[in-house]
Amino acid sequence: MKKESRVLILCTIFIAFPLVQSIFEGPKEVEEWFKELPIKKEKVTKLHFYFHDTTSGPAQTAHQIAESNISSTTVTQFGRTFMFDNPLTVKPDIRSTRIGKGQGFFGAASFEEPRFIMNLNFVFTNGRYNGSTLQFLGTNPIFHRVREMSIVGGTGVFRLARGIATAQTYFLNDTSSIVEYNLLVVHYY
Ligand SMILES: *[C@@H]1O[C@H](CO)[C@@H](O)[C@H](O)[C@H]1NC(C)=O
Ligand SMILES: *[C@@H]1O[C@H](CO)[C@@H](O)[C@H](O)[C@H]1NC(C)=O
Ligand SMILES: *[C@@H]1O[C@H](CO)[C@@H](O)[C@H](O)[C@H]1NC(C)=O
Repeated sequence: MKKESRVLILCTIFIAFPLVQSIFEGPKEVEEWFKELPIKKEKVTKLHFYFHDTTSGPAQTAHQIAESNISSTTVTQFGRTFMFDNPLTVKPDIRSTRIGKGQGFFGAASFEEPRFIMNLNFVFTNGRYNGSTLQFLGTNPIFHRVREMSIVGGTGVFRLARGIATAQTYFLNDTSSIVEYNLLVVHYY
């Protein structure tokens, strides 16, 4: 009986180990992870989710934090900048399963067209990527059908990640938008 339960515990640890292996935190653990880098393999992970941006009303998640003294007189509102903490969901419906948040800022960065600099973190709080993050940087011409931006890094299971995100507007009005994101991320396991 005792022996049996010990075998069971060993099995559980063995099975659980690969899942959590790469997200042991702390300076020593990260150092160990780097030592193993030469024998680690690369893999490509596909992520798909919807990003909900709301700039007014009771469900507001994006707030203006800055503008330049020409923002209100330029057609592109140059310099106007928002900090946001936007939900990420598996379906376009805001009530669908939440997988995390998109946290960061965007600001109007072009004199010619509506084009934002995007600087944000995808912070995952659910499922197998819970606790891991991706760092996202790019230029976003918001009225183009597809916008391609960069994944420049990651933490947790996404340590040293890089990749490409494509954004497509699913819904847009004066106060909110829902953007569909497809990510292809190269990382290690
Ligand atoms: C904006 O601010 C700069 C620096 O303070 C000033 O020189 C400029 O005249 C201002 N422009 C406008 C349109 O207010
Ligand atoms: C995500 O991880 C945190 C910290 O380990 C934990 O408290 C939380 O319950 C997890 N959430 C889900 C949905 O698994
Ligand atoms: C924009 O759409 C959202 C979500 O459907 C809605 O709650 C909001 O009232 C709309 N805003 C405007 C200005 O139409």
